[in-house]
Amino acid sequence: MCGIVGYVGPKEAWPILISGLKRLEYRGYDSAGVAIMGDKGLQVSKCKGRVADLEAHVGKKGLKGTVGIGHTRWATHGEPNDVNAHPHTSANGELALIHNGIIENYATLKEELIKRGYVFRSETDTEVLVHLIDDIQRTEGTDLAESVRLALLNVVGAYAIVVVDAKSPDMLVAARKSSPLVIGIGNDGDHFLASDATPIVEHTRNVVYMEDGEIAIIEKEKGLRVRNIKNQELRPSVQALEIQLETLEKGGYDHFMLKEINEQPRSIRDSMRGRLNIAGSEVVLGGIKDYEQKFVNAKRILVVGCGTSWHAGMVGEYLFEEFARIPVEVEYASEFRYRDPVINEDDIVIAISQSGETADTLAAIELAKSRGATIIGICNVVGSSIARITHAGSYTHAGPEIGVASTKAFTAQVTLLTLMALMIGHRKGTIDGARFQQLLLELDAIPAKVERVLKTEAQIKYIAEIYKDARNALYLGRGYCFPVALEGALKLKEISYIHAEGYPAAEMKHGPIALIDEEMPVFVIATQGASYEKVVSNIQEVKARKGKVIAIVTEGDTVVKAIADHTIEIPASPDALVPLLAVVPLQLISYHIAVMRGCNVDQPRNLAKSVTVE
Ligand code: AGP
Ligand code: GLU
Repeated sequence: MCGIVGYVGPKEAWPILISGLKRLEYRGYDSAGVAIMGDKGLQVSKCKGRVADLEAHVGKKGLKGTVGIGHTRWATHGEPNDVNAHPHTSANGELALIHNGIIENYATLKEELIKRGYVFRSETDTEVLVHLIDDIQRTEGTDLAESVRLALLNVVGAYAIVVVDAKSPDMLVAARKSSPLVIGIGNDGDHFLASDATPIVEHTRNVVYMEDGEIAIIEKEKGLRVRNIKNQELRPSVQALEIQLETLEKGGYDHFMLKEINEQPRSIRDSMRGRLNIAGSEVVLGGIKDYEQKFVNAKRILVVGCGTSWHAGMVGEYLFEEFARIPVEVEYASEFRYRDPVINEDDIVIAISQSGETADTLAAIELAKSRGATIIGICNVVGSSIARITHAGSYTHAGPEIGVASTKAFTAQVTLLTLMALMIGHRKGTIDGARFQQLLLELDAIPAKVERVLKTEAQIKYIAEIYKDARNALYLGRGYCFPVALEGALKLKEISYIHAEGYPAAEMKHGPIALIDEEMPVFVIATQGASYEKVVSNIQEVKARKGKVIAIVTEGDTVVKAIADHTIEIPASPDALVPLLAVVPLQLISYHIAVMRGCNVDQPRNLAKSVTVE
């Protein structure tokens, strides 16, 4: 995700755009840029770094003009640098465009445009849009709005875009599909555009939330017109904004962590975007295609990571061993780097890191690389240190994760590992075509299932109220859900400061069962699947010792419901995909208990978002 702003009106655009971008930096901050219509044509300035760097780059005088656009980037395609920063311009510099989202078919469009003589300067997916609009203007002779509409008919993917054209200097054209865009209706005939209302509320509270498939044409004289992708004129619905600036940055949620938990349907969808091809029955991971054969031939996969990323790696172990029949060893990066491990040249090492800056993971990668292994990265930050030192990799596209406790990054990491394991298994023939296709369909259905799980929040809050004063907690799971038990325990520990441990459910009788009493809440993932009956027995063992059981169950379950103290239902899904659903109630329970205990949820004590020290 990234931050987009635009302005059309009687005032100087520069101060409005730059202050708007500062409000949106939480949405992305690796590079920034503006395009403002000046007396002598379009003035474009952009650079790597934060909005303040752009401000310094432009200088105190700013740029003159009353129509303009601005962008603060969270890269998905093309690392953060001056050239990949937005806006992107047409060859003759008359068009400038900013974009939030992912153009899934950009490679095909780019190939076609290159054949037609267009020269690409950046590595981004976005740049195809500005050349496509330019090409349509030239070949069809259409105006800016119609050229944008025709161009978008060829585009597959997610976008919120704003385009400015020196040939129509008093106009902006905007469009959205899957990425947000809000229009503010000012009092002096001015109009504001932004990814969300945070940069707008200081100017006006009258806003229009654009819908998917809508195109907005904003002109100085004619004001705002809205049409849909079928070219039908629409009547925009203006709302009066009530919520305060502070909550707007968090999307109306009280904390970034809750916002990010609720973003997971979108972030899981984005991590699959352009990679999960149901119709073609294939998984396409462009970032690792040069190493696919090495992956297929691998005799062993090592996974290195820390904290939540290590838990995602643990899910990956089950995925690769089930689908690709490749032995997997998951290592704490901090242990791996000091153990003088046995590393073979045909090993594949998967390094998982949200920040891409974790010191222990970086060191583990350097060690494995020095001994000839192939390193594949799974990172959330494009151009991060880990992304740069791995041989190849895939970005999770989860968008900035501001809350220190990792939530959407975990489910995005697990989604990427699922795609990788399915792709390699399919290539190796260790899963047959029919099962492969079925799993692709099941994976595609996960975002909607996560939406359903999020709707159980009220019940989860009720449970949190009961157990918020617990001094200890146990989390139990088997198979794919053992790593989820570990992750659930970490979430509770790190934001509510309650001691919690995750365990394989069967391990309980080898010691932890001594801890069970009526003061001990035991969270059990007991979904219907391979080891369901065994987990039911484990629940009965806990109940026999007066333990309190909060069970995550498959929708419609009556067996566990009859014995557990509380149950939270999640939609049925194959065992391999249960982690993507079962982790959500555990994230929410930890969040609500921490809030009820008055903890600083977004910045828990003693913790940092990225542990760049040993
Ligand atoms: C998880 O909620 C914690 N914030 C922490 O364990 C984190 O997962 C760990 O520090 C690894 O960070 P990374 O994914 O950025 O490498
Ligand atoms: N995909 C575009 C890029 O990588 C936009 C990313 C964003 O939404 O910030 O530049």
